[in-house]
Amino acid sequence: MTSLADVAVIGGSGLYALLDDAEEHVVDTPYGPPSDPITVATVQGRRTAFLPRHGRDHRFPPHRIPYRANIWALRELGVRQVLAPCAVGGLRPELGPGTFVVPDQLVDRTSGRIQTYYDDGAVHVNFADPYCATGRDTVRKVAAEHGIEAGDGTMVVVEGPRFSTRAESRWYTSIGGAVVNMTGHPEAVLARELALCYTSIALVTDLDAGVEGDHGVTQEEVFRVFGENTGRLRGVLLDVIPRLPEHPDDPCQHALDGLTR
Ligand code: ADE
Repeated sequence: MTSLADVAVIGGSGLYALLDDAEEHVVDTPYGPPSDPITVATVQGRRTAFLPRHGRDHRFPPHRIPYRANIWALRELGVRQVLAPCAVGGLRPELGPGTFVVPDQLVDRTSGRIQTYYDDGAVHVNFADPYCATGRDTVRKVAAEHGIEAGDGTMVVVEGPRFSTRAESRWYTSIGGAVVNMTGHPEAVLARELALCYTSIALVTDLDAGVEGDHGVTQEEVFRVFGENTGRLRGVLLDVIPRLPEHPDDPCQHALDGLTR
């Protein structure tokens, strides 16, 4: 198949559409359909695909998202680089609502999610650095141009759908976590297994239970704060897209070199 798009954005809670004048593609995969039809349009000269992770009507909770189908479908369209915005809780008081973090590390605390395409044979991808260095640099530079200081840090990904207890949350902070969310995994490793560049863009919607004062995290605040910040997020995304390399050659693109398949 000829490439219909080389960059993709997977929209998180509250970001259900991104592209104007887009064409819609219904894609099927060996893993079933993705969360929604994929829209494709040209953004400042770059063919870009958009897929709302939860579906445009938010019908998939984090533990039911068809992660394998989503990443496969994007690859099928020709995508090589993925930008993955998501809502996160801050695990440190200085990472309050509205802060952007571009994670450089991930801790997987999910359970029961299928996290590989390779059920047969020995394919063990290198995941020491789960995110694309070029993608991360580009996002942080463009964010700075928009007046947004986006730091790095470790993202802890929990199974959900409940939020964490205060004890769990304090423990995530103590092991070095900066932010916590429910969708960052297995999306990142599946992208690596298909040799795609993958960059997470975490928007803090709340302080997690261990740093929060009295009420703990509520779903209402997560959606409200994400909604209040979609304009800033959209602005950064649309300016990052044309700045990504046209011919990416990061280690992510070589993740399968030399592996038995
Ligand atoms: N997504 C947004 N905020 C979160 C939190 N505090 N914990 C897990 N996932 C989240």
